[in-house]
Amino acid sequence: AHPWRGIIAEYASRLPFDPSQPAITLGEGGTPLLAAPALSELTGADIYVKVEGANPTGSFKDRGMTTAISRVVAEGAQAVVCASTGNTSASAAAYAVRAGLRCIVALPAGKIAAGKLAQAIVHGAELLQVDGNFDDCLRLVRELADAYPIALVNSVNPYRLQGQKTAAFEIVDALGRAPDIHALPVGNAGNISAYWMGFNEYAGRTTATSFADESARQGAVVDTVPAMWGFQADGAAPFVKGEPIEAPETIATAIRIGNPASWDYACAARDDSGGLIEAVTDAEILDAQALLAREVGVFVEPASAASVAGVIKKAREGKVPRGALITCTVTGNGLKDTATALGDAELETTTVPAHLATAAAALGF
Ligand code: F0G
Repeated sequence: AHPWRGIIAEYASRLPFDPSQPAITLGEGGTPLLAAPALSELTGADIYVKVEGANPTGSFKDRGMTTAISRVVAEGAQAVVCASTGNTSASAAAYAVRAGLRCIVALPAGKIAAGKLAQAIVHGAELLQVDGNFDDCLRLVRELADAYPIALVNSVNPYRLQGQKTAAFEIVDALGRAPDIHALPVGNAGNISAYWMGFNEYAGRTTATSFADESARQGAVVDTVPAMWGFQADGAAPFVKGEPIEAPETIATAIRIGNPASWDYACAARDDSGGLIEAVTDAEILDAQALLAREVGVFVEPASAASVAGVIKKAREGKVPRGALITCTVTGNGLKDTATALGDAELETTTVPAHLATAAAALGF
């Protein structure tokens, strides 16, 4: 027995790293897989949420950043760059500190939740606020990484997906089997591709993003894979439209993306798993976020709730098989974006003197 050591050490046999090389880690992974009885009751399925907001910087990005940055260090680069809707930049900034690297982040100006911007700033990243959206930022940083000695750590870096696939391993390890359906939000589409790789490698198979045969040759842990259900925000749903979107818009700024980089991998995950990629409205996202907070006890950021919103929507359509084992990834921590969570709600606070009888009266006792 040992304390959790981060995903590179925990899943060493299934990741492309030499175990004798020190990993750049903040102890990511090992996140809770929580039963969600309120959701099970609502949908008639058996629902669990994978709480990725419990990672060190508050999102699933840490799984891919430990692998991407460890690789950058092994290759001897001195600086990293990424485009981000906020979480990737927060994670890159923190792991760059661990590695002693310069970190540059390109962000769509005015469209980053305050908590995420704070993370990039406190970790000392160099901010490029770009007059444009995420897709413009990604194009810019690809050009920067091509022209200058800066390593790109967006999910187009294959080491990112290698790390992110470990969430699928953890789910299967926790359940003792693969779920029937796995639901997650889709933005740039790296994560759905990574999970699909992870579930397949645990079933002894590879996908297009697998590295040679490193993980699959470790053998099968289970013999099934889930159907992959991806959910986008209505105003930013290129997979639903079937082509890129020029001006994506959604309250879920983390997935405000019109031209996903991992397009083909995500389509393969959807089609080869017998799954789907659909859209949910901003209102459905906010409802699911509120339900998770009030009835499950998990505070997630809006984009994270798209997975749960999607499963609820499918249940209302009668498309959720009764009793199915469904896992939903909730991707990021609600503390990153408290403004959206509170919305227009006036905080009903009563200030009372520190006096028992008055406090008791205010509480209705
Ligand atoms: N959920 C959250 C909280 C995210 O931050 C992201 C992506 C996604 C879901 C979608 O994952 O892109 O792999 O399909 N955020 C990126 C960022 C784009 O810059 O932080 P995806």
